[in-house]
Amino acid sequence: MLRGRFLRRAPRWSLTHQPQNTQAFPDCIRRFTSSASRFTPGFSSSKNVQDHDAASTAAAPGKSGAHEGQYARTDNSVRVEYPDQKELPPSRPVQGRGGLHYKRTLASFSLEGRVGVVTGGARGLGLVMAQALVTSGADVALVDLNKEEAERSAQELVKNFEAENPDSEKLPKVTAHYADVSDPASVDQSLQEILKEHGKVDNLVTSAGFTENFDAISYPYDRMKKLWGVNVDGTYLYAVAVAKHLMERKAPGSIVMIGSMSGAIVNVPQPQAPYNASKAAVRHLASSLAVEWASAGIRVNCISPGYMLTALTKKILDDNPELQKKWTSLIPVGKMGRPEDLMGAVTFLASDASLYVTGADLRVDGAYTCT
Ligand SMILES: NC(=O)c1ccc[n+]([C@@H]2O[C@H](COP(=O)([O-])OP(=O)(O)OC[C@H]3O[C@@H](n4cnc5c(N)ncnc54)[C@H](O)[C@@H]3O)[C@@H](O)[C@H]2O)c1
Repeated sequence: MLRGRFLRRAPRWSLTHQPQNTQAFPDCIRRFTSSASRFTPGFSSSKNVQDHDAASTAAAPGKSGAHEGQYARTDNSVRVEYPDQKELPPSRPVQGRGGLHYKRTLASFSLEGRVGVVTGGARGLGLVMAQALVTSGADVALVDLNKEEAERSAQELVKNFEAENPDSEKLPKVTAHYADVSDPASVDQSLQEILKEHGKVDNLVTSAGFTENFDAISYPYDRMKKLWGVNVDGTYLYAVAVAKHLMERKAPGSIVMIGSMSGAIVNVPQPQAPYNASKAAVRHLASSLAVEWASAGIRVNCISPGYMLTALTKKILDDNPELQKKWTSLIPVGKMGRPEDLMGAVTFLASDASLYVTGADLRVDGAYTCT
């Protein structure tokens, strides 16, 4: 069970809340229009014109109703703190996705003989993307702050593979490693450990990252620094470490950075400015490093997921049913994604099926960012 601290909101968020910032401009603020008479009742000759004016910048905020900006604004009362490790719910590999199949597909999607590293691979999206790499033929190293959970997940991935592929001659090698990705020494140490176990690395998926909700004015500075440390520094540090290894080996490779649709849009109603900025940084890091490392045969792409239903988001939404309605009402597909909806995207970008794709941002968001 997550403790109450996990969801500290005051007051509890509600769809029926009044939109903020609808108070009239104070008189000291000069309006864009120079015509003061436009705010005077009776200025327009017809009621229709008055209605339209009330919905335009000719009128004071709130003039056309309390709904102004209602679905496009953040709500400072939504506050969700990322839980401590011991409070994070565990995840399981998905079932029924990994068995041998005999349908034709492109050989270039196979990751046979490759070694992939997944940061944040102990649970959530990282775990399921690691499963996609294993299913596609790779050996995998799970890297996480929570080594115990990563070990459990590594064992489950192999058990799951065995159950779904009873005739397989060879089991995948899946290992678990501790790292705090925001710490350069810890990153290097974990990579050395992985190289000792696996001999090489061909693919990297950077899924270690987290989000929190505080309005910008009250965001605790130390938490903001921590968030950027994991989401931005952590992505950068692991990518550089793996690229260095690939360059030393003179081997091609593919790096997939997990961004978020929040790197391109501003989510509502939960306020999360530092997270959004961190994910915009991840997206542009992918493009920048794609250009820098193109001549070395190292591809770098970004996957930007929309709202995905992980064990953690399930818990948050159980406590905030109104939030779920609000989120799904803003997604053209009308549904949140499941972690397994990223399996194809990560396999495509990690494999030779995407040899000419680098510096791209693949949005897996049910068209959220199209509207
Ligand atoms: N779940 C979503 O809806 C969603 C949507 C868009 C993007 N994302 C992004 O996907 C990634 C994975 O999210 P998730 O939902 O699976 O989260 P999660 O919390 O379920 O899993 C994240 C994992 O990262 C690990 N981690 C955290 N800090 C770390 C550190 N300093 N070093 C190493 N490991 C660390 C955690 O222990 C955890 O196992 C994150 O970058 C997140 O921002 C998630």
